[in-house]
Amino acid sequence: MYTDPARHRQPTARSVRECLTCESASAEATIGLGEQIGRLLQPGDIVLLKGPLGAGKTTFAQGLVRGLGALGPVTSPSFTLANEYRPAPGTGRPVVYHLDLYRISGADEAWQFGLEEYLDERAVCLVEWPERAADAFPLDHLDVIIQIASLTGDLGDLGDLNESDLVRNRIVGDEIVGNRRRLTLCAHGARSRDRLGAIRQALAMK
Ligand SMILES: Nc1ncnc2c1ncn2[C@@H]1O[C@H](COP(=O)(O)OP(=O)(O)OP(=O)(O)O)[C@@H](O)[C@H]1O
Ligand SMILES: [Mg+2]
Repeated sequence: MYTDPARHRQPTARSVRECLTCESASAEATIGLGEQIGRLLQPGDIVLLKGPLGAGKTTFAQGLVRGLGALGPVTSPSFTLANEYRPAPGTGRPVVYHLDLYRISGADEAWQFGLEEYLDERAVCLVEWPERAADAFPLDHLDVIIQIASLTGDLGDLGDLNESDLVRNRIVGDEIVGNRRRLTLCAHGARSRDRLGAIRQALAMK
């Protein structure tokens, strides 16, 4: 009797999620990294930017938008919830939406504000504070988790990548200390794994 071995295979953390870790010593380096990665993003990609206040989510998004060739500087969209960036004419690159859900209090409110409109297969969607609307996003997405170094410059051990631990972290009192950041990119789903593979290759070739 034929049995499909895949049926008996237990899902492992590795089969669900693949991660890549980068470090940055300055805001400029974070923008540069974002620019390299932004060049590789494709229409329909969703990038969820996670990390504490001041981690560098907007800074990294600024690089992504540059790499995507979209027009206009990225400013923190904190008061507008969503900013839209148009591609330069004739480039064939996607529209970029940059959302900040800090003031959203759940998936329901995110739907009311029109989240669905921004999760457009023809656009790239970058989201700060996605945790505010946790279940609202498609399963296939790229997480970017940004950690801030502690007073001693220690970035800590990522261990088994418990995200709720990662996003709390690494602020001494209320103060952000130093410029060192660790950016961990994790792919969830086939599309994001493809993208992470391309990113891994591009960064390795540098
Ligand atoms: N290595 C670094 N990468 C990114 N930003 C850095 C770095 N070092 C210092 N910074 C500074 O940290 C700040 C990051 O601010 P930014 O607005 O990008 O954070 P954020 O995560 O978007 O915060 P918020 O949750 O308030 O939206 C900026 O002032 C930036 O210049
Ligand atoms: Mg921000």
